[in-house]
Amino acid sequence: MRMYDIIAKKRDGLELTGEEITFFTQGCTNGTIPDYQTAALLMAIYLNGMSDNEVLALTLAMRDSGETANLTDIKEKTVDKHSTGGVGDKTTMVVVPIAAALGCKVVKMSGRGLGHTGGTVDKLESIPGVCTEINKDRMIEIVNSVGACMVGHNENIAPADQKFYKLRDVTATVDSLPLIASSIMSKKLACASDCILLDVKFGSGALVTDIGEAMALANDMVKIGKSAGKKMAAVLTNMDMPLGYAVGNSLEVIEAIKVLKGEQKGDLYEICIELAAHMAHLTSRLPLTECRKLSAEAIDNGTAFEKFKEIVAAQGGDTAYLDDVELFEKAEYCTEVKAEHTGYISHMNTQLIGKASMSLGAGRGLIDENIDHAAGITLEKKTGDFVNEGDVIATLYTNDDSKICDAAVIFDSAIEYSQIMPELPPLIYDVIK
Ligand code: URA
Repeated sequence: MRMYDIIAKKRDGLELTGEEITFFTQGCTNGTIPDYQTAALLMAIYLNGMSDNEVLALTLAMRDSGETANLTDIKEKTVDKHSTGGVGDKTTMVVVPIAAALGCKVVKMSGRGLGHTGGTVDKLESIPGVCTEINKDRMIEIVNSVGACMVGHNENIAPADQKFYKLRDVTATVDSLPLIASSIMSKKLACASDCILLDVKFGSGALVTDIGEAMALANDMVKIGKSAGKKMAAVLTNMDMPLGYAVGNSLEVIEAIKVLKGEQKGDLYEICIELAAHMAHLTSRLPLTECRKLSAEAIDNGTAFEKFKEIVAAQGGDTAYLDDVELFEKAEYCTEVKAEHTGYISHMNTQLIGKASMSLGAGRGLIDENIDHAAGITLEKKTGDFVNEGDVIATLYTNDDSKICDAAVIFDSAIEYSQIMPELPPLIYDVIK
């Protein structure tokens, strides 16, 4: 088999066989196929797409390029949750404890933030002592005893994806639905939970902004998961404005705690209840309506917050910070952003808000940059709110005051005003099973 022929076949719009897909995935991972040929094939896939059979074969080949977790020592059904990422998306820290409080066994593998979106691992590490690099035996022990463990992806999980992703990043081939679906699902399948819940976001802060494309991506991923024998569901949720009111690592942990303590309702709470309910529904025979009710009760009766404390303690974190959020390190500098006009906030370019937060130090431009855990943004107003000129819309936080001016300019450019109240897209658009 020759890589040249595989590239030519895909370039001409023909369907690749499973053998051809396995050949190039293995060759790319072990270095026998040079990057320039892999990059050419990725572009051919980007331009011509892939059939369902091809995407499944690619996903399985990527999964098999590294280790697959062995969860057989967890006797009950396991469930994982994945978000396609967004701005202010701290749902994992709320949803995982709720699901565990309802009796689910949650094996949650997460990534770090890159680009304008944050990552759960960075957020959790704002809590002093929390360790997300946990060996497999200890992870299973924690899941068996506490109900959930939140760990970082290690490099042995789907190494082909790491190779492809680096090349996609520099060859303008990231935003291809088959490549995104196979990238996400190869890692989820390697993590090996029985059930997988996907939170597929749409809107200006999402990986896929268009709702139709987000729906297609959700459908593709659900199909892949089912073909691989998993119980699947995907919830399409709105990322056309930041989720909740906090963006940035420790600020988001504090907001997640508020929701878990029942002190904050609104969009974040609603999406978390829906996601937790689907996780419970996937792993049990309970109807979804009952799972929604139980999820809300887990917040009201304090069991979800207690579960979060147990998970954090099991992972070495100092739970005093969860009881008293005033203990979190505060940023040295903060500045208020004020409304430039009177009227409704008609749109928030959420990607730009993520970029503003990143430029304050909350995110990293390169994979090994340090982040400022206290940096970020708290919002006073969101899309649909009426403001008078000069009202505070947001506060920016950083430990490096040289970053504030640029971030404020980016933030201002993200806000649009109108004299007419805007129509808001639904928070939860659809569920695909
Ligand atoms: N997240 C992933 O893991 N892969 C992609 O291709 C895009 C987002």
